[in-house]
Amino acid sequence: MTVINDIFVMKSKVFSGEQSLKKLAEIHGTKACIVSDQMMEKLGYLGQVVDLLQSGGISTSVYTGVKPDPSVSIVAEALQVYWESGADVLLALGGGSVIDTAKGVLYFARQYALEKDEPFVKPSFVAIPSTSGTGSEVTDFSVITAGGDKMVIVDNFIAPDIAILDSTLTKQLPNKIVVDTGMDVLTHALEAYVSTKATDFTDALAEKAVQLVFAHLETLYHDPADAEARDRVQNASCMAGMAFTNAGLGIIHSMSHAFGGTFHIAHGRVNSLLLEVVMEYNANLGGKTIDRVCERYARLASLLHLPARTAREGTVSLIQAIGKLKRSIGIENGIRELGVDQDAFNEALSRMARNAMADRCTPTSPRQPTEEELEHIYRKSF
Ligand SMILES: NC(=O)c1ccc[n+]([C@@H]2O[C@H](COP(=O)([O-])OP(=O)(O)OC[C@H]3O[C@@H](n4cnc5c(N)ncnc54)[C@H](O)[C@@H]3O)[C@@H](O)[C@H]2O)c1
Ligand SMILES: [Zn+2]
Repeated sequence: MTVINDIFVMKSKVFSGEQSLKKLAEIHGTKACIVSDQMMEKLGYLGQVVDLLQSGGISTSVYTGVKPDPSVSIVAEALQVYWESGADVLLALGGGSVIDTAKGVLYFARQYALEKDEPFVKPSFVAIPSTSGTGSEVTDFSVITAGGDKMVIVDNFIAPDIAILDSTLTKQLPNKIVVDTGMDVLTHALEAYVSTKATDFTDALAEKAVQLVFAHLETLYHDPADAEARDRVQNASCMAGMAFTNAGLGIIHSMSHAFGGTFHIAHGRVNSLLLEVVMEYNANLGGKTIDRVCERYARLASLLHLPARTAREGTVSLIQAIGKLKRSIGIENGIRELGVDQDAFNEALSRMARNAMADRCTPTSPRQPTEEELEHIYRKSF
């Protein structure tokens, strides 16, 4: 019997480099619905996008109401603007929250048409990230908050057709967001690398993303004007997105979704506070180590020129290097230092563990947890 594996899909065409935004003047279409937020308007990027589209003969309708960790009601508002616009181009300009909102618009617009038995003509979907973090510009994933829980939609239909990586848009990112989003990139790459669905294709992307983050994130933190560091971290973000949209993620993301839906702390920051504890759990460092996981972490350690004579030593080296990187970019020592109230945390624990267990990212974890283990990891990360 012939077995054909569908192991790697890359739907989005990617343009990159400073000034790649100008590619917008060549986009095909007549009307664009732009989903964005007030920051993009304030920084003048929205105006640039509108001007470039208009120079190519495309008129625009704009929604700028996206807020971090977008809720279903924000998606519904944006959907209304999209319907009223009659657009044949859907364009997301902003961070992961904006791109995920636009994906929600696309997803629910098609669902609505399917339920009404109406034809749905898919607009061409362009994503322009203004953070270097989620990789959402190339992924099948959208994270929407519903009733205090983060819901993950996974559907190749919502992956953007075109991604434009113009790192001039990340020039004015506040330092804190550089750190939050940069650590999200590292988490995507690390989780994709040990995922049960990792392949040679996703490994290559994840390895490069890890190397780029280690080489450039600290520089970017100290000097946000460093154009090379900005460019390379943005590439890392997109590559890590390509890796995880194919390989899947793991319980750092499951736990971070459950935690972020409850306590509303930046996604990448939460990931970074769970990172080492989950890595220790994945590798079972406290007991008989899990060979496959340790070997994978050790391989990353070797690529970073860290001591890795044995798989265990490599795993420990990688975890220590992550701790060092975190300290160098001002990340707290635990969730407690974010100002999360201990009683509220304890009260939320079992619900968060239950939600994390049911999250779309848990099945590809290299080690299948129990709810009790997830609670233990939360407590240890506090
Ligand atoms: N779809 C995916 O594949 C995926 C993957 C990981 C995370 N997520 C989700 O994405 C969201 C997080 O996205 P994010 O980390 O990009 O942050 P974000 O989009 O929530 O933005 C954070 C803040 O940064 C501001 N901002 C964005 N770009 C800026 C710029 N260039 N200059 C100054 N300020 C700027 C925004 O206005 C916002 O206030 C979360 O909801 C998370 O769950 C999605
Ligand atoms: Zn993430």
